Amino acid sequence: MALPLLFAFLFSEASARTVPDQALVVNWNSFNALETVQPPSVTNVFLPPGFTEEQALAKPFHIYDDDFYDVIGPNPTLTVVASTGVDPIFHEAAVWYPPANEVFFVQNAGAKAAGTGLNKSNIIQKISLNQVAALSAERNASGLVDVITVNANPPIVNSNGATNYRGEIVFTSEGQGNSTAPGLWVMNPQEPYNTTVLVNNYFGRQFNSPNDVAVNPRNGDVYFTDSLYAYLQDFRPPPGLPTQVYRFNPSTGAVTAVADGFELPNGITFSPDGSYAYVTDTGAQLAFYGYNLSAPASIYRYTVEVDGTWSNRKLFSYTSPGIPDGVHCDTKGNVYSAVGDGVQVWNPSGTLLGKIFLGSVAANFRFAGKGRMVILAQTQLYYATLAAEGADPVNEF
Ligand SMILES: *[C@@H]1O[C@H](CO)[C@@H](O)[C@H](O)[C@H]1NC(C)=O
Ligand SMILES: *[C@@H]1O[C@H](CO)[C@@H](O)[C@H](O)[C@H]1NC(C)=O
Ligand SMILES: *[C@@H]1O[C@H](CO)[C@@H](O)[C@H](O)[C@H]1NC(C)=O
Ligand SMILES: *[C@@H]1O[C@H](CO)[C@@H](O)[C@H](O)[C@H]1NC(C)=O
Ligand SMILES: *[C@@H]1O[C@H](CO)[C@@H](O)[C@H](O)[C@H]1NC(C)=O
Repeated sequence: MALPLLFAFLFSEASARTVPDQALVVNWNSFNALETVQPPSVTNVFLPPGFTEEQALAKPFHIYDDDFYDVIGPNPTLTVVASTGVDPIFHEAAVWYPPANEVFFVQNAGAKAAGTGLNKSNIIQKISLNQVAALSAERNASGLVDVITVNANPPIVNSNGATNYRGEIVFTSEGQGNSTAPGLWVMNPQEPYNTTVLVNNYFGRQFNSPNDVAVNPRNGDVYFTDSLYAYLQDFRPPPGLPTQVYRFNPSTGAVTAVADGFELPNGITFSPDGSYAYVTDTGAQLAFYGYNLSAPASIYRYTVEVDGTWSNRKLFSYTSPGIPDGVHCDTKGNVYSAVGDGVQVWNPSGTLLGKIFLGSVAANFRFAGKGRMVILAQTQLYYATLAAEGADPVNEF
């Protein structure tokens, strides 16, 4: 008697999930066999059959797998926090600074609409999450939030990625021209925003264009990708080193290369316990030089050995549309990446669970405490509430 009842109860629980107000369900079988399939092109969005773009934007949490209900919870929300029109000031390096409940981020360095790169550095800005969180019932709160410029001193030239580091924030700097060497800089997240160079060379050689940085939660080491985007945006000379991932040991100062074989390494993060590393390769996106659709738009996973070296490179996900830029995990080990239509979420086996669909490119994003996420979509800044919690270490190191 008891067993069948229990099964019936579990079964009805699983199948009777209510689709949240801001969510829609996509049946994968609905697009496996399409009437027409378009020839190769650089497309920006994939609309599931039966949905217009307006409908897909009105319900931006797209459920591709039942496990996405646990990621988004019963009442996820998405809010436009700020819009600029053309200047891509909401680009990368989103970092939550808990003591002030603020989120920092940087402008796209080198983008034509930003007017930055060879002659002018990009800027760092911040928002107050207290101010933003109070607006989560709005769909578009643009104009209601203060976006504050942070005058790093000395300036971090053409900053790109960033993460929490020993109570402060470590940024990658892509450098400028031949003489301003790129590297890693640390900034005090409070006035006077004083900065210090952490690393700016590999045995006296300039890095190419450090893109993103993550701290491994197990060993506390700082790992960063060195890509070529400053060169591909015409503000740095041709590469003097292969595109690689480096590891900086804060106790000894040692810098070592841990992975190569990339076209354009980009985002980097670790699983919650630090035992896996994820690196995105955005070789398909050549900035001022267009696209190469047969090059990677892929997330690779590595095992992080106990000694901090990497092994077992494997393809975790080939992403579509666009390229996977920023990448972060939640505390359950699910992997999130900013791609051509918003933020996509995979389980640890690389199955797409769902999307936070923006209908346009997201460059990066960051969890900012449990159930809160800030998404950088170049000319638009978004705030999402959901059930998941980010895995990036905030205070430990
Ligand atoms: C940088 O400044 C030089 C000299 O003023 C100018 O010729 C050049 O066009 C500028 N480059 C960019 C990318 O703005
Ligand atoms: C939000 O409103 C602003 C100001 O009216 C507008 O410029 C922006 O495009 C809107 N954003 C969205 C995603 O609708
Ligand atoms: C760097 O220096 C080389 C050699 O002097 C020069 O050809 C090149 O234009 C310079 N590049 C930049 C981005 O300043
Ligand atoms: C900023 O200055 C304070 C006070 O001198 C110092 O403790 C801190 O390490 C500095 N931070 C950076 C990143 O330079
Ligand atoms: C595009 O990328 C592929 C894979 O990396 C490479 O083999 C090919 O040469 C590239 N094509 C062009 C036109 O650069």
